[in-house]
Amino acid sequence: MSKNDFFTYQAQTSPHPLALEVSHAKGSYIYDTDGNAHLDFVAGVSACSLGHCHPKVVNAIKTQVDQYMHVMVYGEYVQKSGVEYSKLLASLLPKNLNTTYLVNSGTEAMEGAIKLARRHTGRSQIVAAKNAYHGNTMGSLSLMGLEERKSAFRPLIPDVRFIQFNAQEELKKITEHTACMVLETIQGGAGFILPEDDYLAKVRKRCDEVGALLILDEIQPGFGRTGKLFAFEHFNCPPDILVIGKGMASGLPVGAFVASHELMGDLKENPKLGHITTFGGNPVIAAASLATLKEITETDIIPQTLEKEKLFRKLLQHPLIKEIRGKGLMLAPIMENKEIADFLVLEAAKKGLILFWLLFESKAVRISPPLTISMKEIEAGCDQIISILNSYQPDTVN
Ligand SMILES: Cc1ncc(COP(=O)(O)O)c(C=O)c1O
Repeated sequence: MSKNDFFTYQAQTSPHPLALEVSHAKGSYIYDTDGNAHLDFVAGVSACSLGHCHPKVVNAIKTQVDQYMHVMVYGEYVQKSGVEYSKLLASLLPKNLNTTYLVNSGTEAMEGAIKLARRHTGRSQIVAAKNAYHGNTMGSLSLMGLEERKSAFRPLIPDVRFIQFNAQEELKKITEHTACMVLETIQGGAGFILPEDDYLAKVRKRCDEVGALLILDEIQPGFGRTGKLFAFEHFNCPPDILVIGKGMASGLPVGAFVASHELMGDLKENPKLGHITTFGGNPVIAAASLATLKEITETDIIPQTLEKEKLFRKLLQHPLIKEIRGKGLMLAPIMENKEIADFLVLEAAKKGLILFWLLFESKAVRISPPLTISMKEIEAGCDQIISILNSYQPDTVN
């Protein structure tokens, strides 16, 4: 296999992929085929929550593979890893979030959530936020709050309206016609934007007033990344439907939506088979999810994310960094302009430090390392960031 084969035979998503040739990965490092170690400050875009190939996750996968893999479509057979996972998750969530529907990706979880909201309320309207990102299939794409990234794919699903995140005065746009309000608890692609003051509490109140369901997308902040198992816990705002994915299985493809037993029951009749999937709840992936959730909740990983955030904030002080947005290990240093952000990401790649961009905020640099990253690794990576920024000349071309 050559790098050229990658460009020739594998579909591309942009004209300029980083094209790192991966040999193997362990802990906080990805190793390339020339034997170089790359310190991973991105974790597969928040997916590898326990780092690469965590032994407990690998063991859980191997044990499950030795027993059985796919045996039936979702929802028909009793498969231990999926049931145990759903039960453990319920024990860690507010009472109304006690039933989990396991699917294959974040975007599919969002599709299931909005279908459930429409089915339950009998209403069609969906309210979402400007600059929101909820996935790339047609339903989730319809909720993406940036027209230029979706206009080529219109017509999308109708009856979606947008409000400005954090603008309380716009909450009146949630009405008796609204099936659901969909929000990222912390806006990811927009630039790691936190909800202000009591914004989420106000959203919750407005949804209750008009009988709309609140769907929170915790695909990025979920599973301990912000110093709580889920970010909504910081804001005391439990949703009616919780949407999760990414870090859930520490590196295997997964998603889920979680709601009350009563609400979720709507998917099994009128019409029956209201949401179906072949591979959702796959036992191997459920086993990896179970091992990940146990490790995250039975150790001090979650409180440690806040200590690690403090270290990042202390070390990442530089005149070219205007602010650092985000919470826990979901951090976005904001540069003065896009050129500096691009320079930092691309120079870091050359020097063995993995950084990345955010979808819609071109001045931001993504820092979302494995939750298991050590203080020493944070220090080493931050040193590199500072020295790269020190070397920046406004006319530097990568
Ligand atoms: C907030 C948010 N929602 C949904 C998704 C979609 O998840 P997936 O790529 O697993 O479909 C993502 C992925 O980046 C995301 O960040």
